[in-house]
Amino acid sequence: MKVLNFGSLNLDYVYDVDHFVREGETLSSKDMNVFCGGKGLNQSVALAKAGIKVYHAGAVGSADGAMLLDALKSVGADISYIKKYDMASGHAIIQKNKNGNNCILLYGGANQNIGVEFIKEVLDDFDRGDILLLQNEISNLAFIVDEGASKGMRIVLNPSPLNEKIFECDLEKVEYLILNEIEASDILGASDTGEDELIEKLTKRFPNTKIMLTLGEKGSVYVDKTKMIRQDIYKTEVVDTTAAGDTFTGYFIAGIVSGTDVEAAMKQAAMAASITVSRKGASPSIPFANEVCEK
Ligand code: RIB
Repeated sequence: MKVLNFGSLNLDYVYDVDHFVREGETLSSKDMNVFCGGKGLNQSVALAKAGIKVYHAGAVGSADGAMLLDALKSVGADISYIKKYDMASGHAIIQKNKNGNNCILLYGGANQNIGVEFIKEVLDDFDRGDILLLQNEISNLAFIVDEGASKGMRIVLNPSPLNEKIFECDLEKVEYLILNEIEASDILGASDTGEDELIEKLTKRFPNTKIMLTLGEKGSVYVDKTKMIRQDIYKTEVVDTTAAGDTFTGYFIAGIVSGTDVEAAMKQAAMAASITVSRKGASPSIPFANEVCEK
């Protein structure tokens, strides 16, 4: 079974601020760092650091994409399905406040230049039973879902960041749906819904889907036809929450791909994510498997 992640690659410009900039305000930042990020890249890095061979497909700019390619290559991810275009790579402007929380402004760049011919070319090299991991930061997502499903690939979708593009996707074709409470409420069209009600509604709406609902401070809940499993977070000093969700997703899928049971995969994912939030930056903060152990 091969693992293909068709996803974004972003240069993350991270500004340390006292508070998030308000409308009309000009604010000086205390520090600025550039990290490799993008939900796609982060999840591939998490899979690779967890010990899984991952093929990353996507697009970068020919002039500014080298750092992104190096970040994946240095952890052993396969980058032969990443195209270079004569345009800017995707980037993110990230404000990080004193509590380690962030707000993110995205510029799609090359991530939004992924066309159907390129998608077909990539998927031609993958088969029934291979994993296809997706997020919502590249163009033609609905087409990738359809093509992947028609080949019999096992689709894992993290619908972040949630926007109208997700409603174009046939979510029935997704085997694992990994989403947070806000994304779940938006997909269900259910506002002010508590956690238990959300889970019930999700399982009714997607009876054949394995659902992973992430709940921030409250941990995560997995639910499928036969079981429901809860996992707490591992408390740690919060330095920077960027890529915590991506680490969780990458490590959880790494567990599933390795044949680990869901409970153990969730535990590993929660431990890995807690290390990520204790460090600065997106992909560089993601731990290797040997750093993820019982605390
Ligand atoms: O999930 C974190 C990521 O979201 C950042 O690395 C940023 O690039 C945005 O895509």
